[in-house]
Amino acid sequence: MISTQQLKLLKNLYIYRSFGYKYYNDIINNRSLSNSTNDLPSTFDELQTFVHNCHLCSLAKTRKNVVFGEGDAKAKLMFIGEGPGMSEDESGRPFVGRAGELLTKIIENVLFINRHDVYIANIVKCRPPNNRVPTQEEATSCLPFLQKQIQIIKPKIIVTLGATAYRYLTNELEASITKIRGEVIDFGLYKLIPTFHPSYLLRNPSAKKYVYADMLKVRAML
Ligand code: URA
Repeated sequence: MISTQQLKLLKNLYIYRSFGYKYYNDIINNRSLSNSTNDLPSTFDELQTFVHNCHLCSLAKTRKNVVFGEGDAKAKLMFIGEGPGMSEDESGRPFVGRAGELLTKIIENVLFINRHDVYIANIVKCRPPNNRVPTQEEATSCLPFLQKQIQIIKPKIIVTLGATAYRYLTNELEASITKIRGEVIDFGLYKLIPTFHPSYLLRNPSAKKYVYADMLKVRAML
């Protein structure tokens, strides 16, 4: 039912766009006007089907696969990245490329948790072309899906990976990851710990010690 309504709405939006209408900035800037999580399916399977049919932003045109997220739907710990890269777009799974291999090592060798026992998702569920940073408009239209995933999973701890994930999740768009990484932040019902993105660690291996320290904090809190 919801998806039929959304498809009708989308059709109308395409018609408006053919007349020359553009996105209205208030929709991008005012979160309360974005897709509400209340309108979204409340079971994981239904939500996944819903997201797989999403065409709310232009990333839908270039994606090969929607990367919904994966892991334990009852996980205590959730990792949130920025958006799928090439390997993730090809496979439909989050964090499976080089950065993903490093994330898996961090989860398994520092936290001593199996990757299947955490939940891994991204701010945007479709790959931005050339791995560019997702725009605010893309993040705003995709964020309700992630918020709904968080509501369903109810993790104890959320770890955001890199500046982009932290900024879009919290709407602190100017936050500096070097200043806030490792802090334990109250984020609604959850504890949020921002840390560096594994891709950053691949380029700057000397920063691994900071992520190691952050993960020790996570481990102690689980
Ligand atoms: N980088 C991300 O932020 N997310 C992925 O899924 C892969 C790489």
